[in-house]
Amino acid sequence: MDNRELYRRAKAALPNAYAPFSNFRVGAALLTDSGEVFTGVNVENSSYGGTICAERTACVKAVSEGFRHFKALAVAAEEEKAYPCGICRQFLYEFAPDLTVITGRDEEHLEIHQLSELLPEGFRL
Ligand code: THU
Repeated sequence: MDNRELYRRAKAALPNAYAPFSNFRVGAALLTDSGEVFTGVNVENSSYGGTICAERTACVKAVSEGFRHFKALAVAAEEEKAYPCGICRQFLYEFAPDLTVITGRDEEHLEIHQLSELLPEGFRL
């Protein structure tokens, strides 16, 4: 699974995003060390603080199915690039401090970062 394919999986998840309040749809695809891909979308709520981002949806799906080791995460919004928010960075850091993060407005313009660059000194108990 290369970066482009993982990004395509994130993009393909976009139609399932539930974003009636922001109209900002986000898809994510999380690649496990053993090659499985878990996708996620943002799911908003009338009580705005209840909203969950696409990246956390993907991570929670994976962990709840017994997968905790991750290699890479791709994030796709509709026409612009989206970087994981601060809460998602910390959430992902819990399981994958060495995660590769892939974003970009389309698959021809991917930007690749390490989670350690996006979240230096993440918190750990
Ligand atoms: N959102 C994500 O799902 N992931 C990101 O990387 C940035 C923000 C969602 C949360 C909310 O539903 C909408 O985008 C606008 O903030």
